[in-house]
Amino acid sequence: MTIMTASFANPKNDAASIERRVQALLAEMTLAEKIGQMNQVNASDEDMPHHLREAIEAGRVGSVLNQVDVDTVNELQRIAVQESRLGIPLLVGRDVIHGFKTVMPIPLGQAATWNPDIVREGARVAAREAATAGINWTFAPMIDISRDPRWGRIAESLGEDPYLASQLAVAMVEGFQGDDLTDAGTIAATAKHFAGYGASESGRDYATVNIPENELRNVHLPPFKAAVDTGVVSLMAAFSDLDGVPATGNEFLLRDVLRDEWDFTGFVVSDWDSVRQLAIHGLTEDDRESVYQAVTAGVDMEMAGQSYVQHLESLIDEGRIDVATIDAMVANILRAKFRLGLFEKPYTDPRALPPIANEHALDTARQAALQSAVLLKNDHGVLPLSANKLKSVAVIGPLADAPYEQLGTWIFDGDRELSITPMHAIHSLVGHEVDVRYLRAMDNSRSRASEAFDEAEEIARDSDVVLLFLGEESILSGEAHSRADINLPGDQAELVRRVKAAGKPVIAIIQAGRPLTLTNIIDDVDAILFAWHPGTMGGPAIAELLFGVESPSGKLPVTFPRMVGQIPIYYSQKNTGKPPSPETVVLIDDIDAHAPQLSTGMTAYHLDAGFTPLFPFGYGLSYTEFDYQDIRTSAEEVGLGDTLTVSAELTNVGDFDAEEVVQLYVRDLVANVTRPVKELKGFRRLRLESGQTVTVNFELHTSDLAFFGRDMKLINEPGKFHAWIGGSSETQLRTEFRIIDGD
Ligand code: NOJ
Repeated sequence: MTIMTASFANPKNDAASIERRVQALLAEMTLAEKIGQMNQVNASDEDMPHHLREAIEAGRVGSVLNQVDVDTVNELQRIAVQESRLGIPLLVGRDVIHGFKTVMPIPLGQAATWNPDIVREGARVAAREAATAGINWTFAPMIDISRDPRWGRIAESLGEDPYLASQLAVAMVEGFQGDDLTDAGTIAATAKHFAGYGASESGRDYATVNIPENELRNVHLPPFKAAVDTGVVSLMAAFSDLDGVPATGNEFLLRDVLRDEWDFTGFVVSDWDSVRQLAIHGLTEDDRESVYQAVTAGVDMEMAGQSYVQHLESLIDEGRIDVATIDAMVANILRAKFRLGLFEKPYTDPRALPPIANEHALDTARQAALQSAVLLKNDHGVLPLSANKLKSVAVIGPLADAPYEQLGTWIFDGDRELSITPMHAIHSLVGHEVDVRYLRAMDNSRSRASEAFDEAEEIARDSDVVLLFLGEESILSGEAHSRADINLPGDQAELVRRVKAAGKPVIAIIQAGRPLTLTNIIDDVDAILFAWHPGTMGGPAIAELLFGVESPSGKLPVTFPRMVGQIPIYYSQKNTGKPPSPETVVLIDDIDAHAPQLSTGMTAYHLDAGFTPLFPFGYGLSYTEFDYQDIRTSAEEVGLGDTLTVSAELTNVGDFDAEEVVQLYVRDLVANVTRPVKELKGFRRLRLESGQTVTVNFELHTSDLAFFGRDMKLINEPGKFHAWIGGSSETQLRTEFRIIDGD
């Protein structure tokens, strides 16, 4: 195919050459063409509508989204490249969130692997598959810090912790974008949603967000800063309001922080129609004013709304927005197109890329699912099961054989035909020696029909062990799918009780898009394997874990509350002036009748829930046991600007070779602003054979301990710190050190 953009094509893709070409191209563009670059159009129709063809030809479209037919995408590119005046290729966007055809675990599940390597590889596989459809830009990773499991989009997040989310955000960006965006099979990434979207009131999607600036900077912004430092191509402005100014019109976020403080050179896209929503929020009177606010704030491209195309030119004519502002915004978009090498290679030949769902892709999905499952409970070592000691197993529940549900939220392109369900995988793994009896028992996870429960109880009674597949269907999490009650939905708790009544060991395998309050079933089951929505290869991974081919090694990236009223509950809370401890807690049933209220009060806990979660951040059992000893630092004091090593001895004292995620936590005891009681500062996934001991060393530079103080500047203070190493945020293995002023 001939490429009309030859004058702007240049195999040399360094930053200086890109900048020269951006400026040269800008100099040739009319105002209408510039505004066209800022316009992203939905192209999901199967038959390309005439008006889209015309708009691209006229240079009024910079990007399309939601078209995944490669021939159609190539045709759209052809119109842009060969029929528009300047031949500027299109950005082709899509929500490739946790896989394209081959689906990895939901991002929250991937976060439970605590393994940047597998997360990076998952994104790489997704990028390669998406690229076969001509997609060159994904709206991922979503790196909103989420401490509210009611929020449906927690499924898409990397959990509650800024450090873990930052590390994994970097890995995802690296996976999507590769080393060089001109390489085949790489696509541009989007860090979203900037910023604060994960803190919506009561976890209700799109609801109001209020985050004090200090918390915003210390908790919510770090993953975005990490993504920007890794070279992420774009950021998406959030739908939500932040302290009274919706993110899409928020100059503080999009200019002061992103451009002035962080020197971001990529571009910002709005969320779907979020420019026009500024009027619905009540920030502006009409669409025209919304355009003014969004452009002034720094939203370079409008997704789906068309209001830039309608109103921007007249705002410029009136002199309210100057052309220099537009030039800078268009340059941000063109820079991305040059970085992607689109001027040289606008078309896609899927045959030049690895086949979809190849062995490597499926193996990556299997590994990710294996490492993401978290063993929450395992009484008397009921797991792993030994196939040779069992005659029969009952496989019961609505999610045992649900190929679509195991894929989770945001899988527009996910191929359910590729899914291997747990029921099928258990059959393949042990079906030749164990009688596997399957009963769905409920139509879906929300079902209230209990007619099949008698049969479930019967099958359970006749089997040696029960594998109960519970959880949430995929539609119960994701965008606009928040829940106020996060118990197992429908009559699942009743199913648990009925099956338990059969008297056989009951193992619950839970697939869900969020932490669930499992308090009402936890005593009725012997073991719980929490598998999130594990993706295409969830079945084989779960089967291998249940039958001990591998040990579970996932760790929670988010705290599990006992009950909804505890939310938000997270490990890195502040100490308060009245911190709770086991000694101070008197629960509701233990309060004496007519007990007087104390004028001194008590401590920070709930009378009916105490102060501990059901399962803490970082928690996850293994088939083996890991013993941590001898925590120490390389010195008692470290000068500002220097590095200290925190070490411990880790031994696999059990009988199983297994992986462990070793975690380093720190507390800054006295500071300019109060600091969390524990903060994750390092982690490492290690494989230890039974009996093996290793020394685990974490290098800690004093800048790793910097935080935003009262004046909202990043500061590093001398003082005393505690450090812990262990297998969860509740580790008690502690040492201390001091940062001293270097001078
Ligand atoms: C709305 C969602 O908030 C955003 O995350 C997504 O990328 C866009 N829709 C496009 O589908």
